[in-house]
Amino acid sequence: MSRPSRSFRISRTFRFVLCAGLVAGFFSNAAGDVLTRPCPAETRADSVLRLLTLDEKIALLHGHSMFTSGGVPRLGIPELSMADGPTGVREELERDSWEPLNWTTDSSTYFPAGPALAATWNRDLAVRYGEALGEEARARGKDILLGPSVNIIRTPLSGRNFEFLTEDPYLNAEIAAGYIRGLQSRDVAACIKHYAVNNQEAMRNRIDVRMSERALREIYLPVYRAAVEKAGVLAVMAAYNRFRGAYCSENEYLLNTLLKDTWGFRGVVISDWGGTHSTTPAALNGLDIEMGSRGPYDRYYFAGPLRDSVLTGSVPERVIDEKARRVLFVMFSLKTAESANRHRGSLATEEQFKTACDVAAEAVVLLKNTGNFLPLDARKIRSLAVFGENATHRHAREGFGAGVKTRREITPLEGLERKLRGRAEIRFAQGYAEKYNLVETGRRWRMRIPDSRPDSLLIQEAVEIARTSDAAVIFGGANRTIESEAYDRPDMRLPFGQEALIRAVAAVNPNTVVVLIAGAPYDLAGIDSCVNALVWGWFNGSESGTAMADVLFGDVNPSGKLPFTIPVRLEDSPAHALGAYPGEDFTVEYKEDLLVGYRWFDTKRIDPLYAFGHGLSYSAFTYDTPWTDRGTYGAGDTVRVFCSVRNVSRFEGAEAVQLYMRHRDAPVPRPVQELKGFEKVFLRPWEEKEVCIRVPVRDLAFFDDREMEWAVPAGVYELLIGASSRDIRGKTLIHVE
Ligand code: BGC
Repeated sequence: MSRPSRSFRISRTFRFVLCAGLVAGFFSNAAGDVLTRPCPAETRADSVLRLLTLDEKIALLHGHSMFTSGGVPRLGIPELSMADGPTGVREELERDSWEPLNWTTDSSTYFPAGPALAATWNRDLAVRYGEALGEEARARGKDILLGPSVNIIRTPLSGRNFEFLTEDPYLNAEIAAGYIRGLQSRDVAACIKHYAVNNQEAMRNRIDVRMSERALREIYLPVYRAAVEKAGVLAVMAAYNRFRGAYCSENEYLLNTLLKDTWGFRGVVISDWGGTHSTTPAALNGLDIEMGSRGPYDRYYFAGPLRDSVLTGSVPERVIDEKARRVLFVMFSLKTAESANRHRGSLATEEQFKTACDVAAEAVVLLKNTGNFLPLDARKIRSLAVFGENATHRHAREGFGAGVKTRREITPLEGLERKLRGRAEIRFAQGYAEKYNLVETGRRWRMRIPDSRPDSLLIQEAVEIARTSDAAVIFGGANRTIESEAYDRPDMRLPFGQEALIRAVAAVNPNTVVVLIAGAPYDLAGIDSCVNALVWGWFNGSESGTAMADVLFGDVNPSGKLPFTIPVRLEDSPAHALGAYPGEDFTVEYKEDLLVGYRWFDTKRIDPLYAFGHGLSYSAFTYDTPWTDRGTYGAGDTVRVFCSVRNVSRFEGAEAVQLYMRHRDAPVPRPVQELKGFEKVFLRPWEEKEVCIRVPVRDLAFFDDREMEWAVPAGVYELLIGASSRDIRGKTLIHVE
């Protein structure tokens, strides 16, 4: 084990003194019995606020290192320590640069990336994921974890799709709320990001996003509202981009009007790193903490200049008080001053790897399985050909932005080797080469665009091996250089000539499975028809290889469902069909309005290649006709929708039963169907269970942009129950009065 650096030792000691003695002593002396009696974090925050000077309050409001905001040493108030997220606690960096400290004590678990978690459609797993992350963040001494990352997947090309969750606002909110609850139960604040509408990386630092009020409220904001109202999220990160003209970090409407005044958010708004553009507008319009990349920290907008704005009267001191109160509120909510009661956490334990493995296993999506080709039978396979760089590529720590330094990332090849050890021969060949062309970006770095030319020698080698093997598995897809923060993909093509490899191998071995390791839609139309089995594997965390081998050989029955639509062609998807990406003159108009993802495909009757919510199992499930507990409901009621689902197979399996709503004769245009509920049901062989999905009538509302309020007009609503958005198995009607 290496020795922690000196600065770490000092800050550890400092923290210990603060937590064990100074803070407790300070708090009880300074604030009297308020702090010796159990009392709300707000009351405590108020008591401490009264003791702070203007400079001390301002110190709380800006970065003092890359990942800490300031504390008040005089009173033993510690810095708030933050770490990226969203899929694992980032390694320790130098205080003042992006350089890693190269400790040996900061390796964390690498958890499956955002869409993988969403693909489980399992709220309990989202909570476990959050809890495990929280354990690790605490063990690493963090107060705030910079996640979840929840921007809606609007275009297949957005570089950060791999860390977002989904294209659907309901699934987004349900999974994010679980993640946040789990994380915060470990005394770590979640920082939901990026608020708001940071749906593309292209021009993200300047782009001005425009859309209707309805699209904003119905598609892009529900996740944040749920995070505040249902999960009590303690921090929100303001996005880099602009919205209706104003930067998100100084956007009065987003920050003050909606987040704080309408939803009642009590925590802190933190800027994205370097995403603050002013002092007075940002201060008045709702930003609380300015963070950035490197110092000098006393020159930040929210440092000296903020002090000057108060002294000259352009920012009233009560605005500073309000921000400092929020920071203190977060600290008290996290038990920062109660070291004895605060979660201590644990790092990269077997329990955390187990959580990563369970999520990974439930995340895998079986897209296609013609003739029940999968699972592979380990007793029958003597030789298994394995191809593709993604069989051996580790994805935890790559690309621009936050990666996870981890001691364990089981690759698919390793997973298969463990599974088949002593039972079958594995014949691995590279199949394709990860080659890139460098493209100037006009900035300090050059973009690496994957070369799509096939490598004929590698293909030939693979074909020879495949010809004489019992089955072949090709691991294709992307990596985190291709899908990355800071830039979008130029197209949806499978990289590195993978299509040619897949066709050639499938032509000589009919027992070919393709596994795609990726976090966003790719063009699969060219390979879909030439293989019997297609599996989506995601950037699936520390145990991705274990989970994949378990799925391929039937030890895990797949139950993942796509959290986004895979279009046949890029031009079929809404933003591209309408020429509404990436925008012109640094402005993008979301012309598709409400019709994002499957809402577009279904309303416009365009067939996707694989639909939102699609995912097969080794089991088959039958659904009975759904019914509801009543026929007529009032606005304050909750509809209970029942449906019996039966596993008609000899495998234990799980099914995410989905509920879509269709508003008949709606007074305003609405998508033909919208997800309003789901329940994942676990069934033994031949078992039948009655699934109950609860839908509060208020969730059927649309946003009435004339009255500026949510409305559920009286009328008939169809409730559709299905195995995917395109596999509806039954429906029932309700009347709303
Ligand atoms: C990203 C954030 C991240 C921050 C700190 C920014 O570039 O947009 O998601 O939390 O950097 O690493």
